[in-house]
Amino acid sequence: MCGIVGYIGDKEVTEVLIEGLSRLEYRGYDSSGIAVYDQGEVHVRKYKGRLSILADHLKEETLTGVVGIGHTRWATHGEPSDRNAHPHTNVSGNIAVIHNGIIENYMKIKEWLIEEKGIEFKSETDSEIIAHLVDHYYEGDLLKAVYKAIDKMEGAYAIGVICKDEPDKIVAVRKDSPLIVGLGEGENFIASDIPALLKYTRKMYLIENDEVVLLTKEGVTIFNELGQKMDREVFHVTWDAEAAEKEGYEHFMKKEIHEQPKGISETLLRRLDNEDNIVLDGIKITKEDLENINKIYIVACGTAYHAGLVGRYAIEKFAKIPVEVDVASEFRYRDPFVDDKTLFIAISQSGETLDTLAALREAKRKGARILSVVNVVGSSVARESDDVFYTWAGPEIAVASTKAYTTQLVAMYLIALHMATTKGVMDQAKYKEVIAELKTMPDKVKSMLENLNEIQFLADAQFNNESVFFMGRGVDVHVAHEGSLKLKEISYINSFAIAAGELKHGTIALIEDGTLVIALATQDHLYDKMLSNIQEVRARGAYVVGVAKEGNKEIEKTADVVLYVPETMDELTPILSVIPLQLVAYYISVARGCDVDKPKNLAKSVTVE
Ligand code: M6R
Repeated sequence: MCGIVGYIGDKEVTEVLIEGLSRLEYRGYDSSGIAVYDQGEVHVRKYKGRLSILADHLKEETLTGVVGIGHTRWATHGEPSDRNAHPHTNVSGNIAVIHNGIIENYMKIKEWLIEEKGIEFKSETDSEIIAHLVDHYYEGDLLKAVYKAIDKMEGAYAIGVICKDEPDKIVAVRKDSPLIVGLGEGENFIASDIPALLKYTRKMYLIENDEVVLLTKEGVTIFNELGQKMDREVFHVTWDAEAAEKEGYEHFMKKEIHEQPKGISETLLRRLDNEDNIVLDGIKITKEDLENINKIYIVACGTAYHAGLVGRYAIEKFAKIPVEVDVASEFRYRDPFVDDKTLFIAISQSGETLDTLAALREAKRKGARILSVVNVVGSSVARESDDVFYTWAGPEIAVASTKAYTTQLVAMYLIALHMATTKGVMDQAKYKEVIAELKTMPDKVKSMLENLNEIQFLADAQFNNESVFFMGRGVDVHVAHEGSLKLKEISYINSFAIAAGELKHGTIALIEDGTLVIALATQDHLYDKMLSNIQEVRARGAYVVGVAKEGNKEIEKTADVVLYVPETMDELTPILSVIPLQLVAYYISVARGCDVDKPKNLAKSVTVE
């Protein structure tokens, strides 16, 4: 959460910072601010609200300069307000700091700063202590002062610091929060994420945990926590800046929904050779390794967790290995039984989700082999894993995850098939059948995206509902959970997902006249049972939208509306059945006038606990 950016060079810094922050707003958007060095002073402008408010102010309160730092905030400590917005400064205003993360021991440091040094805090944030700490240790060398300050800090942070007395420097630090450096000619940059810098450079350094970076306009030096210089290879970004643009779509979410055929196709076809054998370059798990594994955990958060549920289904079904799935925030604290016979699979679009990363580290510490499914190349989760499967979704900007999810599903199917064939538990005929069917998915998704009238009509008729239930059986339950999350996060409707068979054990009490129930009935062997469950809720007044495979017409007799997905094998339906649910959520959000791409209280990358 929160986006940081910094620049040192010859360009007008305000423009660079605003441009960079505009690409990072997905990380948080309740306030924003910049600090710029100009004519012997550090000047700060910061305002509550979207970045456009800061940009508007800057049209009147012009700031010029060639060195500066900027921040877009997702509030953790202290409400969104002008004074809690970053950058924060020391008492004299000589030192300005931006911070992404949480300083866990900030209260102790704050009390010490108040009692021992008589400092009056200007904000309620944890971050402000950093500026005062750096000031406390400052003796003419910013780098040294930052080192001393971070030695006192516990928690997660990516920070950027500038100082009036050393205007030719930016010092930045990374500990458990993402940080990259952009390399230019006579100019250098820091940022939380690559898109912030793509307008200016494609050459980056990926900063590792516990590293400190000193930037001048001429160069960048990376130090480890002991102050030793570190070598770093330049990372060349190959994707286009346009991939992070809306390209004519009203919202990133809509664009990303429509990019799914491409993402699925790239994720799949890049892993198949001419004979349709799966080739996973980043995964080195051998038959012997697999035989040594007696437990698989899949751990993730939110949508990635839902992809993990489908992943469990696929691995158990195809590879016949038992799997446990856990939300990362629970896994890390429940002292799970993990040893060197455990395979830990982390799924994360961003590769920076703190809970997932912490769970991964916990599993690694206990000896597990780590396989990750990640979208962002070079992200922390990827770097800390033994084996990596990169999804090829391209940059996902909308807070609500769509194309990352469907590509994660493809990744999990491929991993499951790879395990099945490596173990020798799937015959060739079945393997060929599944691969052939997977290859039809891009076109099937595409066909679903060509006819949206019915879904739009449904959304227009139903957007006023204040509660919605999603239900299904078998693998459909997992998709129901994803549909429900999608709807609640972008439309603020209280939605709930349940295994249809569980309804009558309590939840059915909530069904009343007009309650919207979205019932997934894509599984052939569970179809009749689902029809009975639909009857049960309809008998209590529910308005039922069924999701079924083309050709299964029986459901029309029980549901009010049916959204059809193309015929496919039961095992693979999640890739298709999630599409109408994403679209229903999207159009309901639009109809309710919500901010689709930047829903309230959320941020794209959750780098705090
Ligand atoms: O970057 P990650 O995949 O690790 O993110 C995990 C969740 O925070 C994310 O999927 C979240 O649930 C999305 N907002 C859902 O749309």
